[in-house]
Amino acid sequence: MKSMRFVHLTDTHMNAPSSDGPFAKFKLAEKVKQTCRHIQEANIAPAFVLITGDLSHEGDAADYAYIRTVLDECSALVGAPVHVVLGNHDHRSAFRQGYLGETPSEEAYYYSHDIDGLRLIGLNSQTPGRHDGEIDAAQLAWLSDELAQPAPLGTIVAIHHPMMSVRGMPGDHLLANRAQLGEVLAGTDVIGVMAGHVHSNNVGTYRGIVNVAAAGTAFTGEMADADNYKMVNFCGYNVVDVSEEGISIQTTVLPTSNEEYFRFPIAALAVQH
Ligand SMILES: [Fe+2]
Ligand SMILES: [Fe+2]
Repeated sequence: MKSMRFVHLTDTHMNAPSSDGPFAKFKLAEKVKQTCRHIQEANIAPAFVLITGDLSHEGDAADYAYIRTVLDECSALVGAPVHVVLGNHDHRSAFRQGYLGETPSEEAYYYSHDIDGLRLIGLNSQTPGRHDGEIDAAQLAWLSDELAQPAPLGTIVAIHHPMMSVRGMPGDHLLANRAQLGEVLAGTDVIGVMAGHVHSNNVGTYRGIVNVAAAGTAFTGEMADADNYKMVNFCGYNVVDVSEEGISIQTTVLPTSNEEYFRFPIAALAVQH
């Protein structure tokens, strides 16, 4: 039976070592390197590594150039390509310049790759200047055309903002136009939607399609008290196996100190994710 394995990481929130951003002191790129070593040592042997956004925490072109070196090293270590999408803390222009080596532009970053029979579609839900997200009309039209022909092993959609309801999260953390995207995905060969943004592990369905919002490598969140939310040191990744029979998702958690990084009023939640 034909099958495919990939690794899903998310919300790496990396910055260059020289950065003085608010998250720089947590050395979050080191956690990505640690994660990649773990994937290699555990013999996961993924066909690809997927990162569903918030690659950087408000990074500039120099941060993205550094992130590219980290992910190129990761790719070499695990023996597989790394595919990324953008999150609300990413910036299109700096990403295109520093990570892709392109002329800076605000053009949305989305794609479709055939990976040995599995189709991976990366969408751009990040919207400049905002923390909520949506898929624009041009992407929806492109996606509809793309999905008209099924792929041998089906399709995985990667996106930063989740479609499904996530317990404890205000609705503005979800993809704003998830109903529109759901209409495009319904009845196609899409078997899974991989997301991030909420910094906790969630598995569910949207109109019958498996949806995952993963916790990621940087930190996880939980209520500190009735009014405040806290971010706690955490690092994990998901191993996703896809076969002709279906899909399975296994979460691996790396040991951390579990110390509290910071806390803030629940009203400021979106800004932190
Ligand atoms: Fe986010
Ligand atoms: Fe995030």
